[in-house]
Amino acid sequence: MEKHANFGSRMGAIFAAAGSAVGLGNVWRFPMEVGNNGGAAFILVYLLCILLMGLPIMVSEFVIGRHTQSNMIEAFRRLAPGRWWRFIGILGILAAFVILSYYIVVSGWTLYYTYSSFSGVLMDKDTDYGVFFGNFVANPWLSVLFAAFFMLLAHIVISRGVQGGIEKCSKVMMPVLLLIIGLLVLCAFSMPGIDEGLRFLLKPDFSKLTVSAVLSAMGQAFYSLSLAMGCLCTYASYFGPKTRLMSSAASVAAIDTFVAVLSGFIVFPAVFSVPDVEANAGPGLVFQTLPYVFNMAFDSVPWLGYLFSGMFYILLFLAALTSAISLHESVTAYVHENWHMSRKKAATLVSVSTMSLGVICSLSFGVLSGWTVFGMNVFDLFDSVSSKIMLPIGGVLIALFVGWYLDRKLVYMEVTNNGTLSERLFGVLMFLIRWVAPIAIMSMFVKGVMEML
Ligand code: PFF
Repeated sequence: MEKHANFGSRMGAIFAAAGSAVGLGNVWRFPMEVGNNGGAAFILVYLLCILLMGLPIMVSEFVIGRHTQSNMIEAFRRLAPGRWWRFIGILGILAAFVILSYYIVVSGWTLYYTYSSFSGVLMDKDTDYGVFFGNFVANPWLSVLFAAFFMLLAHIVISRGVQGGIEKCSKVMMPVLLLIIGLLVLCAFSMPGIDEGLRFLLKPDFSKLTVSAVLSAMGQAFYSLSLAMGCLCTYASYFGPKTRLMSSAASVAAIDTFVAVLSGFIVFPAVFSVPDVEANAGPGLVFQTLPYVFNMAFDSVPWLGYLFSGMFYILLFLAALTSAISLHESVTAYVHENWHMSRKKAATLVSVSTMSLGVICSLSFGVLSGWTVFGMNVFDLFDSVSSKIMLPIGGVLIALFVGWYLDRKLVYMEVTNNGTLSERLFGVLMFLIRWVAPIAIMSMFVKGVMEML
């Protein structure tokens, strides 16, 4: 039998998992949620969700992946032979497949915006950014072309394998991403809106904290940490025996949260630097509001506007690429290991099939906008079904599986590396996995379904 692949170093493993977590969710969705739900109070609740729900589920996925050394479907088959628990694996890999097909569309937009920033089109004074964005996404050729190019990049990395592709590329892209974000935060501190932006981010207003805001924070934490889609489980199957699961999960969650909060430190000072722009501009914030903001904020030094805008969209692009790679790997690992195909063939099959769905998602903003289900176009449908239904169901089942079905000793041995580490927090971890996480995720699920109906 072929030897199972491994990450070459502990650092590589952490960067790869952090690359999966840090994505469009951090730079695009997080500031939007913060803006919609009242700023700092939302961030506090978000941190609690990461700690009480996100981390325990992440450790659970690590336990499953490293113990079985296999992809998510195979992992459940090995741990619970002949039982229906295998359904969790199927659901996870299906979710990764669906998410990847719409994720590449938005990722393609980041590439187009990077190109448009540096070519100067985006900074043209006469541009109406709503129209600019609308024309681009409705253009069947352009948006598909950029999504396909993005997919090709992810495909090349995946085809090169775990160490030569995923690990190597994460070790380069994650530090570059952190460097860019640092530079952008420095630039943001020189903007006129810095005081108001910081106040918005740091001064909690608990009156805005509705039940719905709390549930949104949970959903955001879940999505941002890449839980329940097989990505972390698959990556953990490449962890070595010495990798510490609890501290690795803590590092990944810390990097993810750090990037999300820093994105807020870039976006809000910029937004408050321009008079008639609202902090809660919604999903259009990054692609319609921010170009306008960059343009106005750097009115007197246009080249700085080009640079700031270009770096911001490169940041989005890098974040999107490392996440798309993990989604791709979750599906490819299954096809490669269980269908006995070479990695290259498996990757090609996954790239071509997700890209075909991606074309439909992309066209749903233009020629296929008439195709709707429950009033949603295909893009929104994929987003809603995956994040509001598939992920929470998967998350609850993972918590129940590790908390109640798996032998407690097995979990203990994984978490302590066969008893060689002392893990004083093990009892707390098990309590969170058994009780807190399932109850929290169930409430998030009920809210998601009610929103869809
Ligand atoms: N965590 C990624 C983000 O924040 O954009 C998105 C994502 C990647 C979700 C991988 C799920 C996943 F499995």
